[in-house]
Amino acid sequence: MAEFTPTLGLSTEQAEEVVRIAGEAPSLHNRQPWRFRLLPHSIELHYDPRARLPATDPRERELRIGCGAALLNMRLALEHEGISPVVTLLPSTGAESVLAEIRGGGSSNMSPQQRVLYRAIADRHTNRRPFRETPVPVEQRHSLLESVEREGCWLHIVERGELGRLEGMVHRAHRAQLADPRFREELAEWTGHAAEVSEGVPASAAGPEREAQDQWVLRDYSAGKAEPRVPGKDFEYDPLLLVVCSYHEGRAAELRAGQALQRMLLTATANGLVASLMSQVIEIDETREELRRMLGESLRPQALLRVGHGSRTAPTPRHEPRELLL
Ligand SMILES: Cc1cc2nc3c(=O)[nH]c(=O)nc-3n(C[C@H](O)[C@H](O)[C@H](O)COP(=O)(O)O)c2cc1C
Repeated sequence: MAEFTPTLGLSTEQAEEVVRIAGEAPSLHNRQPWRFRLLPHSIELHYDPRARLPATDPRERELRIGCGAALLNMRLALEHEGISPVVTLLPSTGAESVLAEIRGGGSSNMSPQQRVLYRAIADRHTNRRPFRETPVPVEQRHSLLESVEREGCWLHIVERGELGRLEGMVHRAHRAQLADPRFREELAEWTGHAAEVSEGVPASAAGPEREAQDQWVLRDYSAGKAEPRVPGKDFEYDPLLLVVCSYHEGRAAELRAGQALQRMLLTATANGLVASLMSQVIEIDETREELRRMLGESLRPQALLRVGHGSRTAPTPRHEPRELLL
C-alpha cells in the first residue's frame, strides 16, 4: 500500500489530512470512488474502477459527481493549509483514470466564507429522515443558488406547478429500478451495513421505514433493518426540491456538477439546513430526458435533492486515508 509523502510543499501529516478531508465527500451508495496520487508538485485525482455501480450508474456519471465533490473538499482543505489550488479537469497526460490534476498556485489567505464551508465538511451528512415543515428562508435559498453558480452550474428550484409532474417521474423511475434484478442486487450489496464496515450505507443512516404515502423519499437503504415509523411523523408535506444542473453533458460537466453539489451541500449545512438526494429520476434515461425537457433544453439535470430543517444525523464510515492512495 502507498504511503503519504510530502506534496505541494505540505508535510506528510498535512497531506494525509487533506486526503482525509477529500474522502468525507458524499458518493453513490458510499462507494467512495476517489483515489489520489501524490507527486512532489501535484496531486492527481483518479477514480477507482472497482467502485463502479454498473446497474445503478451505467455511464459512471454519478461516480464522477462523487469525485467532483471530493475535489471541492480537497480544494478547501488545501486553502486551509495555506495553498491556493489550481485545478485542471481531465488533464491530457496520464492514465485513463485521471479526472483532475491539482497544483499549487501560490499561498492562500482563506476568506471567511471559505472558512465557513471548510468547517461544514465534518457536519454534512445525508439526512433521510422527515424534515420540519418550516420553509427555507429566501436569503438561504439565494445563498444555495449562488453557491452552485460559483462552480459554473445552475440550481433549479422546483416550482409548485412542477411538483405533480416531477413526483410522477420519480415514482416511475423508482418502479423501473425495483423491477431490475441487477439494480436490486447492487442496492442490497451496498446497503444495510453494520456501522463498522468502511464502505456502503449503514442501516443506521437509512431513516425510518418507507410507507405507501411517501412522495419523495422512496429508496430504502435499510435492507429490512429500518427503524419503525414514529406515528404522526410523516415526511414533510411541502419540501424544498432542488435540481443541480450543468450546461453541458460529459465528464468535465459532471466533475463541475459534483463540485457545485458539494459547495451547495456545505452552504446548506453552514446555514443549519440538511439534505438528501433522490437520484432515481436522473438515473433512468427516460425520466432524465423528461426532466430535462421540463427544465428547458439548455440545462442538464445532474442531481435532485430535498433540503430543509431536520435533526442532526451521524457520520457514515469512510476508508482510511492511506487506502485512498495510488
Ligand atoms: C451522485 C450521488 C447520488 C446519490 N443518490 C442518493 C439517493 O438517490 N438516495 C439517497 O438517499 N442518497 C443518495 N446519495 C447519498 C449517498 O448515499 C451518501 O452520500 C453516502 O451514503 C455517504 O453518506 P453521507 O452523505 O452521509 O456522508 C447520493 C450521493 C451521490 C454523490
